[in-house]
Amino acid sequence: MNRCFDEILRLFYKETGIVFENKLQILKKKIEKFYKDLDYKGCDSFLDDIKKSKELLQKFINFLTVSESFFFREKGHFEFLVEEIKKSVKQNHRLLSLPCSSGEEPYTILIYMLENGFKNFEIIGVDINTKVLEIAKKAIYTKRRVSLLPNDLLKRYLSNVDNSHYALKDRYKKMVCFKHLNLFDQEIYSLGQFDFVFSRNLFIYFDDYSKLEALRVFHKLLVQGGYLFLGHADIVKVTPGFERVYRPGLQILKKI
Ligand SMILES: C[S@@+](CC[C@H](N)C(=O)[O-])C[C@H]1O[C@@H](n2cnc3c(N)ncnc32)[C@H](O)[C@@H]1O
Repeated sequence: MNRCFDEILRLFYKETGIVFENKLQILKKKIEKFYKDLDYKGCDSFLDDIKKSKELLQKFINFLTVSESFFFREKGHFEFLVEEIKKSVKQNHRLLSLPCSSGEEPYTILIYMLENGFKNFEIIGVDINTKVLEIAKKAIYTKRRVSLLPNDLLKRYLSNVDNSHYALKDRYKKMVCFKHLNLFDQEIYSLGQFDFVFSRNLFIYFDDYSKLEALRVFHKLLVQGGYLFLGHADIVKVTPGFERVYRPGLQILKKI
């Protein structure tokens, strides 16, 4: 079982860049339950199939990727974004949220853009997990997910579904485009280049190698002088091709 379990984790790492270092016994039990629920008797037959079936691999990725997100999380980044756009001579801005999880981040970007009167922009949300992208497209959220959103904005952009759920209004939903892609797939470059990329709370799951690979991809995805926003826990030691922007408490990298 240990050899098989290690191989499953290696395969998952190769696909996503994500490493698991802690609580491996709990993870092992979780994975065991996952394939037993799918009627696999043992680890080896599951491993064989996951190598062959893209559909099974996707199910497994959906199961193992951690996707919690919130509206208005680390709002200093959005305030910086607004300042930069106000200073910019460009007419049109392209913004990418990768990973976007269930949409809270790209919709927060949208709210900031609209609240500041910006009209010409494109927002794309990308994630490897198809389940969370379905939620992003439906845009129905629990109270907890919107709890940082100021009340006036909550009323303007979302409506009550029931006591504990809010739905983003349809006209705003249409303003963000969602795509299912893996950061490490060549297809990512079909998105073109962006002025701003939000990649918050992804590097936290990566080892140094994956972090460098991800920075290489984001460097290509950004225009010259474009910005990359990382979460406060997304520690990066070296940042080739970027300079750090000094903003207390915020991790912002600028493409040089
Ligand atoms: C914790 S969420 C972060 C969401 C949002 N950026 C935030 O800060 O609230 C992490 C997301 O990364 C996604 N993810 C993990 N590996 C990925 C990869 N290789 N390509 C694209 N998305 C990935 C997961 O599916 C998950 O939805």
